[in-house]
Amino acid sequence: MSATILWGKTYAKKLKDETKEKIAEFTEKTGITPGLAVIIVGEDPASQVYVRNKHTTCAEMGINSQVIELVPTISKDELIATIENLNNDSNIHGILLQLPLPKALHKYENELLYRINPLKDVDGFHPVNAGRLSIGEKCMVPCTPLGCIKMLELAGISLDGKNAVIIGRSNIVGKPMANLLLAKNATVTVCHSHTRNLQQIAATADILVAAVGKPNFVTADMIKPGAVVIDVGINRIAPKKITGDVDFTTVKEKAGFITPVPGGVGLLTIAMLMHNTLEAAMLQQT
Ligand code: GUN
Repeated sequence: MSATILWGKTYAKKLKDETKEKIAEFTEKTGITPGLAVIIVGEDPASQVYVRNKHTTCAEMGINSQVIELVPTISKDELIATIENLNNDSNIHGILLQLPLPKALHKYENELLYRINPLKDVDGFHPVNAGRLSIGEKCMVPCTPLGCIKMLELAGISLDGKNAVIIGRSNIVGKPMANLLLAKNATVTVCHSHTRNLQQIAATADILVAAVGKPNFVTADMIKPGAVVIDVGINRIAPKKITGDVDFTTVKEKAGFITPVPGGVGLLTIAMLMHNTLEAAMLQQT
């Protein structure tokens, strides 16, 4: 039997509607409009689309959005000064430094990200937030893994006691996903490029999360019949065509639930950015 497809659109709408309502309540109670600043350096076309989407979504949600466009030749120190200004701006509750940075700034990526006040770190990339997440404390959680968890919750898929296997150990998806699944009482295995017997390990998963960055990496022989398969991959295979990490056509015949790419968990990332901006605004009032 073919898997139930978990379409991101339905869940993203529900989550955005919920957050929009909470933002209205917050603004009414405090007189404060949550503010998000997005810094984009250079002219990467994909980043420009993402940033435009963030800006439009903020407007729909009742969030003030400021897009700061900087030339690719900007120095590290000028960028740090921009971040510090935003850290000190009480109208800005969330700061996002759009990645990737231009080549010349690559080596400073972490240094720059770590300049963002952890309370305003809506990406959840700051080590203070990563550390808090790993010890189960309240923090800013990276948007993509948070979106995956919210989708599973809304789909009524229980995680307690389940075997979860994550393929990919990135700081942005794999590791935070592992911590979120642990917090939901799943038994978690994180696989990566040095993992032996990946196929056998993946086939034990009740929940399989693919975050590798390789098209069609996850094949049907890696799937336990009826498993929940979450595809976090965004692989550009042609100028206007993206695909996930999962071989969707064959895997969907074996899985119980599957997220498509495009149209899956990617759509929840922006919904979670809105959620995190509200959370940040709330945290900064206390
Ligand atoms: N570029 C693509 N996705 C993201 C994201 O979630 N955060 C940041 N900062 N940059 C990105």
